[in-house]
Amino acid sequence: MRKLIFIQLHLFFLMTINFNAMSQPNNQSKAGILLVSFGTSYADAQKALDNIDKKVKEAFPGKEVRWAFTSAIIRNKLKKEGKQIDSPAEALAKMGSDGFTYIAVQSLHVIPGKEYDDLKKTVTAFNHIPKSASHIQLGKPLLYMHQDVNAVTEALEAIISATSKPDEAVILMGHGTHHPSDIYYAGMQYFLWQKSPLYFIATVEGYPALSDVLPKLKPNKVKTVWLMPFMTVAGDHAQNDMAGNEPDSWESQLKKAGLEVKIIMKGMAEYDQIVSIWINHLKETINELEK
Ligand code: CO
Repeated sequence: MRKLIFIQLHLFFLMTINFNAMSQPNNQSKAGILLVSFGTSYADAQKALDNIDKKVKEAFPGKEVRWAFTSAIIRNKLKKEGKQIDSPAEALAKMGSDGFTYIAVQSLHVIPGKEYDDLKKTVTAFNHIPKSASHIQLGKPLLYMHQDVNAVTEALEAIISATSKPDEAVILMGHGTHHPSDIYYAGMQYFLWQKSPLYFIATVEGYPALSDVLPKLKPNKVKTVWLMPFMTVAGDHAQNDMAGNEPDSWESQLKKAGLEVKIIMKGMAEYDQIVSIWINHLKETINELEK
């Protein structure tokens, strides 16, 4: 009987120790940033992502910054070149096991489309995994609220007016999507037209298309058109669909229509005015996490 009580006490003692160890709040909270882009395999386009990396580190000194690409095709392509880039899930799992308790995940996508939706699902799933980072929050893409569309338009106007003349047209090349968020491009056109009737946006895979913009050039007596990517990086679409030598590239189509074409081969992430909008979204996310 005495021995039994001893064992029970002993067990109770052990259980108490374990329970205390488990419930002890982790005083060593560790916050990190995960930047998530669709990704690019173009070495030239990587400089846009390097610029964001630099600006984020300047804005949040002391916070570790890691990267993930959402595109499996691009990750596999890079893998063959010996470059290992994590998917968002891989990066979050590693950050969890590396002791990060708070993670601000920042979407570097342009619109809240399919890539953003998938990232949101990943973040939600990781918030339910025990013993991983306790707080993970997702920051909004470049365009989310109408204020963002307005802010991006203001930034673009400053960029465009420093390069082109008022009688020259500008066509921004957006990606476009089958996702309902494709409407952001038409929404963006509304804001652009408040700046100039010669600022247009068209998309590769969504609405509006280049064929929707072409008929609007002649009535406006346009002779010169600037083409610039409205994508995070100036990658494959910018190099080939926008400014490629093939007859169906936008440059070729515009030239065929008798227009002079000038190219700006820069991704949105190469402009500090645009990057600051992404950084503001990241600031909001970090403030949420620190509440
Ligand atoms: Co694409």
